[in-house]
Amino acid sequence: MFKKITSAAALCACAVVFMGTSYAQDVWRIGTEATFAPFEFMEQGSGEPTGYDIDIIKAIAKEEGYKVEVINMPFDGLIPAMLTSQIDAAIAGITITPERAKKVDFSEPYYNSGLSTIILASNQDKYKKVSDLSSSRICVQIGTTSAKSAQEISGKVGAFNTVPEAFMELKTHGCEAVMNDRPVNLYFLSKMDSNDYVELPEILDGQQYGIAVGKGNPEMLKAINSGLKKIRENGTFTEIHKKWFKVAE
Ligand code: ARG
Repeated sequence: MFKKITSAAALCACAVVFMGTSYAQDVWRIGTEATFAPFEFMEQGSGEPTGYDIDIIKAIAKEEGYKVEVINMPFDGLIPAMLTSQIDAAIAGITITPERAKKVDFSEPYYNSGLSTIILASNQDKYKKVSDLSSSRICVQIGTTSAKSAQEISGKVGAFNTVPEAFMELKTHGCEAVMNDRPVNLYFLSKMDSNDYVELPEILDGQQYGIAVGKGNPEMLKAINSGLKKIRENGTFTEIHKKWFKVAE
């Protein structure tokens, strides 16, 4: 009897190991930071990450015959998680920069973005351009390209784990401005039912988003670029763009 149980247990363990192996082969573990609507945010109800980026990576994976497991984590934890192989890749509106490209590989760019600055409408006369903020506190998300730009402008930077926290700080007058990716700022303004916020006219251009892939995984990088090309060709990419931005690319 005892023997029977042990062999059943052994069999069971075997099955788990086997399942573990096959799981790792056809599921991509994709990191994101879901406070960045409309690119990635938590869907009310399901509590699952949703958004433009999530649709893009799922469409690419489907094209290449993979499944996707989306793992939500802090933005500044994404690259470390790839370095320690906790995730295979990340999609999170990540700007391709030479600095980051030393640590991770990037897919072909999939979105052209830029940065903008939001202030309280009540401060409109005080801050007309970004340089007017040179001695003011600017709020940003930790580890982002905005964090770097804000530092160059003012040196007085409030760094938050999430974008909504940075906006909350602005709302409660804890900082004078929020610097962030422009499409996310515009989405925020469109969702806010008030004229309490305005965007400064200067836009810092030249940010391209790429899907980051852990170094030493050329097959995955190749599959992602190939899937991206296919969804551009078969119209899926345009569909996803229309769904989230209401206009074709
Ligand atoms: N594009 C900016 C960067 O790469 C901000 C990205 C923030 N993404 C996010 N999912 N919170 O630094």
